[in-house]
Amino acid sequence: QVAAAAGHTVVLVDQSDEILKKSTKGIEESLKRVTKKKFADKPEAGAEFIDKTLKNITTSTDAVAVVHSTDLVIEAIVENQQIKNELFKRLDKFAPEHTIFASNTSSLQITQLANSTTRQDRFAGLHFFNPVPMMKLVEVIKTPMTSQKTFESLMDFSKAVGKSPVSCKDTPGFIVNRLLVPYMMEAVRLFERGDASKEDIDVAMKLGAGYPMGPFELLDYVGLDTTKYIIDGWHSLEPNNPLFTPSPLLNKLVEEKKLGRKTGEGFYKYK
Ligand code: 3HC
Repeated sequence: QVAAAAGHTVVLVDQSDEILKKSTKGIEESLKRVTKKKFADKPEAGAEFIDKTLKNITTSTDAVAVVHSTDLVIEAIVENQQIKNELFKRLDKFAPEHTIFASNTSSLQITQLANSTTRQDRFAGLHFFNPVPMMKLVEVIKTPMTSQKTFESLMDFSKAVGKSPVSCKDTPGFIVNRLLVPYMMEAVRLFERGDASKEDIDVAMKLGAGYPMGPFELLDYVGLDTTKYIIDGWHSLEPNNPLFTPSPLLNKLVEEKKLGRKTGEGFYKYK
């Protein structure tokens, strides 16, 4: 959505037509929200902007079939190293020589993903934040193998789509998640110990620290499964780091398929 709104031609790829239909609907709804403010006094220009943006987006369920005409691949699939590696390995065979591969991974090592391809110099991390149309930040992650040209192209791309890029080495969580995920896990532990209610913890962080959402609202927004994938991955890397200890409560909610807003229930109910 953000790349298309900036004038890029985008092919959105996912596993089924049903998911793509849902994604396209989500993009339409989000564009209406963005346009309402941006074109408050010019509804006709707003309608034209939505139309033009949507025309820049086509969809496909076949990544291999569309990658041959792509300059930049931004992968944002499930947080699983093996599945991501398999996808990149497959795409690497069919993508043009110049094509840059980027992963939007929240927590996996970019170097390991890059090593599944033969284009390590044209591989980097490009990490966006939810909700992407509103959040101005992009983290650009350079591995020791990423070329300066690739890094600069991704910094330029981020700026061209209206974001403010920052860079970070290929370390767990990069900047934001390295600070944000342990904070959210500490909130869960505070609640698990019975020291405060989740409602009070959320109010406290909003009114006492000026955060737009409390940690439990944010966990439900990001997805409890996503947070669990991140913490489990880090725990296996550093089992003795207390900040990376998994939470029984978070594990239980994920097991019960209470994943947050997307399933209608997480720490809170949304039905
Ligand atoms: N698309 C377009 N516009 C959107 C939107 C979307 N998906 N979501 C919200 N907006 C717009 C609304 O339309 C509204 O616009 P307006 O000012 O013109 O009315 C504006 O954002 C504010 O929305 P709301 O009034 O509904 O609610 P808030 O003031 O609470 O703002 C929020 C919503 C921007 C989501 C804010 O609560 C926020 O910043 N929350 C924290 C988000 C955050 O921390 N994100 C990072 C998560 S971590 C991550 O993504 C990394 C990953 O790897 C895990």
